[in-house]
Amino acid sequence: MYSVEKIREDFPILKRKVNGYPLIYLDNAATSQKPQLVIDCIVDYYSNYNANIHRGVHTLSQEATDAYEIARKKIQKHFNIKNSHEVIFTSGTTHGINLVANGFSEILLKGDEILVSAMEHHSNIVPWQMLCERTGAILKVIPMNQEGVLVLSEYEAILSEKTKLVFVNHVSNALGTINPISEIIKKAQDKGAAVLIDGAQSCSHIKPDLQKLNVDFYVTSAHKMCGPTGVGMLYMNEKWGNILPPYQGGGEMIKEVTFKKTTYADLPHKFEAGTPNISGGIAFGSAIDYLNNIGFAEIEKYEMALLSYATNELLKIDDLTIYGTGPDKTSVVSFNIDGIHPYDIGTIVDKLGIAVRTGHHCTQPIMAFYKIPGTVRASFAFYNTKEEIDALVSAVKKAQMMLT
Ligand code: ALA
Repeated sequence: MYSVEKIREDFPILKRKVNGYPLIYLDNAATSQKPQLVIDCIVDYYSNYNANIHRGVHTLSQEATDAYEIARKKIQKHFNIKNSHEVIFTSGTTHGINLVANGFSEILLKGDEILVSAMEHHSNIVPWQMLCERTGAILKVIPMNQEGVLVLSEYEAILSEKTKLVFVNHVSNALGTINPISEIIKKAQDKGAAVLIDGAQSCSHIKPDLQKLNVDFYVTSAHKMCGPTGVGMLYMNEKWGNILPPYQGGGEMIKEVTFKKTTYADLPHKFEAGTPNISGGIAFGSAIDYLNNIGFAEIEKYEMALLSYATNELLKIDDLTIYGTGPDKTSVVSFNIDGIHPYDIGTIVDKLGIAVRTGHHCTQPIMAFYKIPGTVRASFAFYNTKEEIDALVSAVKKAQMMLT
């Protein structure tokens, strides 16, 4: 039985006050809060078995290596990945995307086409633009409609034999839209193109089955799913893992080094140069355990109730517009009130202890599409409550009264 009160007890930060008010944390799309179990996992590593991994015969190094590799297997299982060597630890989603983009700089030819969606985070736009500058490839955009939903007929129209790669987020960070990735992947692969899915905003809400999706690349960050910052994962299927060149050179990614020639290690180490975020990787595994213990079906049901409640209550406010009104959404509400800058609303609600994100959310093309400077974004997690949404609505009303 889902008990939000019990779940909230797992998160020490939820007990604190901000500006004299109990913290109401509604900025989960920026980063999630961490349960005690994940915090303890990091403390335990540094207190009891801190050592470098894959390098030492000594006991501490072996314990740390075992814990890190167990975490890799937890990630493999969670995302239903065929082989654990197809799980590459990264510093986060941005790192994963740059790693793949760098690899494609040796594959793409002038005039090749790569497709991005109109609702991407800058981290899934800029690395590809840099790639186009280096290779002469052409970046094309899958458009979206006013609801913030991708227009699939237009996607089909721009897909062609020239398309080499398609990269789309599973969920938009600014709008909450869930994209039909299964269909997007299938259509791209029918034309012979590879697909990268950015799961940064979906991973805390939806458990994807990567084997079933048959996707080429999937990237995400631990900190969006109750894990620490500075660690993430890149799934790259074995075929691509063998084709793409390494991103960084360094220790642990080699088989043999001479001044004449270096040969590279097998997957996943080929892409894991240098000492990684060891405690972060181990804690990523604990965060996955934590979420699975609650259960993704339960989380989804609970968050959908929060989304529908928040949407209805916020729409009762005069002159309020919600951006991202498609039928398939995660628990994100992005909105503006006529005549008020989002930053001013964010500042006033913060004075009342409520954390929301304001601005362009690293998605300037979405803001340009709607001709707005930014939005106020409230993003809900499985530990938020209806009472917190009531407090947000009343704080927004207060801000509106003060600012008009
Ligand atoms: N990408 C994160 C967000 O949407 C930081 O807030």
